[in-house]
Amino acid sequence: MKVLQERSLAPFHTFGIEVTANHIVVAESAEDLVAIWQDEQYLALPKLIVGQGSNLLFCEDYAGVIVLNRIAGIEITETAESYQLHVGAGEDWHQLVRSTVENKMPGLENLALIPGCVGSSPIQNIGAYGVELKDVCQYVDVVELNTGKLSRILASDCQFGYRDSIFKHALKNTHAIVAVGLKLPKVWQPNVSYGPLMQFNTDTVTALEIFEEVCRIRQQKLPDPNVLGNAGSFFKNPIVASAKRAQLMMAYPNMPSYEMADGSYKLAAGWLIDQCGLKGYQVGGAKVHEQQALVLVNYGQATARDVLKLASEVVLQVKDKFGVCLEHEVRFMAAAQETKLAEVMS
Ligand code: FAD
Ligand code: EPU
Repeated sequence: MKVLQERSLAPFHTFGIEVTANHIVVAESAEDLVAIWQDEQYLALPKLIVGQGSNLLFCEDYAGVIVLNRIAGIEITETAESYQLHVGAGEDWHQLVRSTVENKMPGLENLALIPGCVGSSPIQNIGAYGVELKDVCQYVDVVELNTGKLSRILASDCQFGYRDSIFKHALKNTHAIVAVGLKLPKVWQPNVSYGPLMQFNTDTVTALEIFEEVCRIRQQKLPDPNVLGNAGSFFKNPIVASAKRAQLMMAYPNMPSYEMADGSYKLAAGWLIDQCGLKGYQVGGAKVHEQQALVLVNYGQATARDVLKLASEVVLQVKDKFGVCLEHEVRFMAAAQETKLAEVMS
């Protein structure tokens, strides 16, 4: 375990909000994590594992221990049918995607340029351009923080859903992810189902072409956190009953929507926010991104309060205009525990 002298969290989360923690430590193994949880000095304090902080909003200073997950290592084995990757939780997701594509192990190309650590990828079942982590995940290895017990959870038991998994529920706070197992079939099926990728011919397209196109589109639409602080989509795309969608389609025939397996519909939160005329809307240093209304950005020295007020205004206006409640995708941290927009603003 390494203990850092600094207390500012600005370098460790992509929103770039100026907040501090009481302690910042680095875990390079499952043993480090358990040692931190058992350390006398930290015993009574709240603790939070952080990968690259790209899905986090610190609503205030953190009154506890931030544990940076830096567990490294990639092991690759193969069978006649597939490549199998066992990846340490602290590895960088995009670097992994890039190296698999470059080394002719396709399957992750649609998930290019998603910031964060490999160990965070199962938590919200990261997804983009028609593919979700669940499509390639074989297992997730976890350590129980209070006992040090290691166990393997098969993908079929991870309760993966849209931006959801068991790690946000039953295993939250009690278990840390230490490694992820991925399976990439050698017979590759390109996935070009998502709008902007439909231009490709599935018989001729290569994984590298999809990788490069996904990177190009993402760089066009999404702000680079190194330039403008943000945490990606701030809200989830809301899922509504088919009757609600039909009612909205009467008034807004061009509204994008996607049918789900159970007959409900996923709406595009970015479109709803855009229709409220909120692109560019600003509260203090926080702003609705001009190119993608689903992203809230730190336009310059934003405080957490600015972001929270802006998010509340967005929720209010979308509710007023469409009768749809937006739920934030970004995880909110209060001084000692996770919180929600409604709780912080009450
Ligand atoms: P963090 O933000 O550090 O942590 C997220 C949560 O997981 C926290 O609650 C943390 O405590 C917990 N956690 C982290 N590591 C562990 C661990 N080892 N064990 C247990 N708990 C842990 N997401 C998508 O799904 N699709 C996208 O297309 C996408 N695009 C994005 C674009 C941008 C520009 C940005 C900034 C974000 C985007 N995101 C996207 C969100 C983000 O990239 C993902 O949620 C990512 O998986 C977060 O990884 P992280 O390491 O930064 O997690
Ligand atoms: N749209 C607008 N105006 C906007 C933004 C979007 O009209 O300002 C419309 C688009 O024209 C399109 C629809 O809304 O018709 C959907 O937009 P887009 O394809 O950009 O995707 P999204 O729903 O905004 C989701 C994910 C992203 C993921 C992309 C690509 C969620 C919450 N977001 O965004 O994930 O990269 O699809 O698959 O599901 C993230 O989770 O952080 C994230 C960036």
